[in-house]
Amino acid sequence: MKALITSGGRGTRLRPLTHTQNKHLIPVANKPIIQYAIEYCAQAGITEIGIVYSAESNAVPEALGDGSQFGVSLTFIPQEAPLGLAHVVKISQDFIGEEPFVFYLGDNMVVGGLRHFIEAFEKNKSNCHLTLAKVKDPQRFGVPEIVGDRIVRIEEKPKYPKSDYAVAGIYIYDKSIFEAVNNIKPSERGELEISDAHQYLLDHNFKITYSEITGWWKDTGKPYDLLEANRLILDNLEPRIDGEVDDNSLVTGKVTLESGSKIINSTVRGPVIIGKDTIIENSYIGPFTSIYDNCQIKNSEVEFSIILKDCKIIDVDIRIEHSLLGNDVEVIKTAGRPATHRFLIGDQSRVELL
Ligand code: G1P
Repeated sequence: MKALITSGGRGTRLRPLTHTQNKHLIPVANKPIIQYAIEYCAQAGITEIGIVYSAESNAVPEALGDGSQFGVSLTFIPQEAPLGLAHVVKISQDFIGEEPFVFYLGDNMVVGGLRHFIEAFEKNKSNCHLTLAKVKDPQRFGVPEIVGDRIVRIEEKPKYPKSDYAVAGIYIYDKSIFEAVNNIKPSERGELEISDAHQYLLDHNFKITYSEITGWWKDTGKPYDLLEANRLILDNLEPRIDGEVDDNSLVTGKVTLESGSKIINSTVRGPVIIGKDTIIENSYIGPFTSIYDNCQIKNSEVEFSIILKDCKIIDVDIRIEHSLLGNDVEVIKTAGRPATHRFLIGDQSRVELL
């Protein structure tokens, strides 16, 4: 079995972070989102993985390399324009060939890996095995209509959803999906929709089965989704202290501290991950926080946040919470008069003040 992982899309809902980096490369718990997909495939014994990327940028191929560091072989497949997920499958037919494959949307995160989905696909001798997750806002997703234990219809982003399930971004197909993607027509927004390919399979009596994801699943489309995914990953991480903690500090709960980092006169309450060469001094770091490499946090408090590399948070009186800081961001208290707030903020940023 092979796998196909997507890494395109504009990530508009994650601006401004996505102005300067591909959404799939944003770290969650200090690891690029797409790396989780690759690792899940590797854990399931899949070693030949195609990564479909937007031909506009080489950022994803450059960041991932040939895959050897993950124990897999990566083949990069450029997509000339964002013409839909079924189009992604269509342009990957040569890479996949005749074998069954996992199609994995690289911005989806799921706990528990892929093995049980692959087993269900094989046991049921399905042409297509979908994963479903209960959501509060099915209008944002592909939505199945289920009668008894069978999917009878699938609609993409319906106004009036027929169930409260989303079709999650992990699909297992045999070669019949190529018949579907080669026969459907573009939707009103000009894309070949994956839900239309699934509907084609239903209309032509192919066998679609499904598993419900009962643990957790996240489509990391919006800032809060990233914080939630970060929380869930941190909760399941094995703690490890490779950096230094001085005698005046209190480190409790699951905390990962990478080499070259120092915790000085501070309280760190896990689950927390702190990358390499980061200094935490006279500060409090609260649960569900990821701080990446080479940051400085001094005389400040941070909780339930993602802080990317090279950031400085210094002398900030009020606790920073529920926040996402991109690379090389400074939040510092200024001295002197006039006592004002001063901002230098890029396009589509957001600041909430007390
Ligand atoms: C895509 C699919 C949708 C699916 C979702 C899962 O939507 O079109 O059917 O439910 O992924 O993440 P998108 O995230 O591209 O809006």
